[in-house]
Amino acid sequence: MTTRKLMLITGASAGIGAEFARQYSARGWDVALTARRTDRLEELAKELEDKHDITALVIAQDLAKANSVDAILKEVKAAGRHVDGVINNAGYGLPGTFFNTKWKDQAAFMRVLYTAPIELTHKVLPGMVERGFGRIINIASLAGYTPGSNGHTLYASVKSGMIKFSESINAEAKAAGHEDVHCTALCPGFTWSEFHDVNGTREKTKEMPSWLWMEAAPVVEAGIEACERGQPVIVPGAVNKGLATLTRILPEPLGRMMVGSQSKRFRSAD
Ligand SMILES: NC(=O)c1ccc[n+]([C@@H]2O[C@H](COP(=O)([O-])OP(=O)(O)OC[C@H]3O[C@@H](n4cnc5c(N)ncnc54)[C@H](OP(=O)(O)O)[C@@H]3O)[C@@H](O)[C@H]2O)c1
Repeated sequence: MTTRKLMLITGASAGIGAEFARQYSARGWDVALTARRTDRLEELAKELEDKHDITALVIAQDLAKANSVDAILKEVKAAGRHVDGVINNAGYGLPGTFFNTKWKDQAAFMRVLYTAPIELTHKVLPGMVERGFGRIINIASLAGYTPGSNGHTLYASVKSGMIKFSESINAEAKAAGHEDVHCTALCPGFTWSEFHDVNGTREKTKEMPSWLWMEAAPVVEAGIEACERGQPVIVPGAVNKGLATLTRILPEPLGRMMVGSQSKRFRSAD
């Protein structure tokens, strides 16, 4: 039986999630990779197992489905493992506005980016507390700090919710004396991944200045290190930190005006 810890990563088939898998496996963790695209997960699992002395489980699931969290945990258990860490990362942006999108798409969005990560956290925490060790990183966003804007609808709300949720879980674990159970919200700004291809804004975002963008690797590294320190929230990168500070000091109407005028550059609200 292995003594290696297991990190369960949602949305591991691309972008930030795949980078988490690379960095945790390089640190000697086993990984359980989940997303919908099995071929991508299997390719990544092979890459990681070839490169490091670790085991990578592949669990194909669509988090929009109501029973997906239970199905993922059942597969982890069937492999004879328990979850030592979770990266709640799977996500996307829904193009369009609240008015011109279908409720089923908004409901699926809420499920994948909000209720599924919360359900997963609720179901793995008791085991972490019992074993006295746990690491949970919730991928929020800088958007969780900024005012809502045309076409951003639930994205900003959900990411803001993930920040508050992570702060609360981290505080609850500390208050209960579970010093080695940490929960961190990671709040990236613009990060190179497939996110802007999936939401159809790649052409628009290509015109944005390069200094606004970060590679996934330093974003992920900042998240892992913050979680190790027991820090409840981390905004990676100097530019993003500056922008997060601006959102706190600007008068609200001015913040809304600025985000409103800029959101056309990175949101598709048609
Ligand atoms: N990139 C940015 O600029 C940025 C900025 C701030 C925050 N974020 C956040 O970072 C997280 C990761 O995004 P990313 O930038 O890495 O985007 P990405 O490259 O498009 O990766 C998104 C991942 O989520 C998975 N996913 C999407 N829908 C899913 C579903 N229904 N069930 C299971 N998995 C699903 C995708 O896998 P499958 O398609 O294979 O299912 C993929 O692995 C998201 O939560 C996003 O909101 C990104």
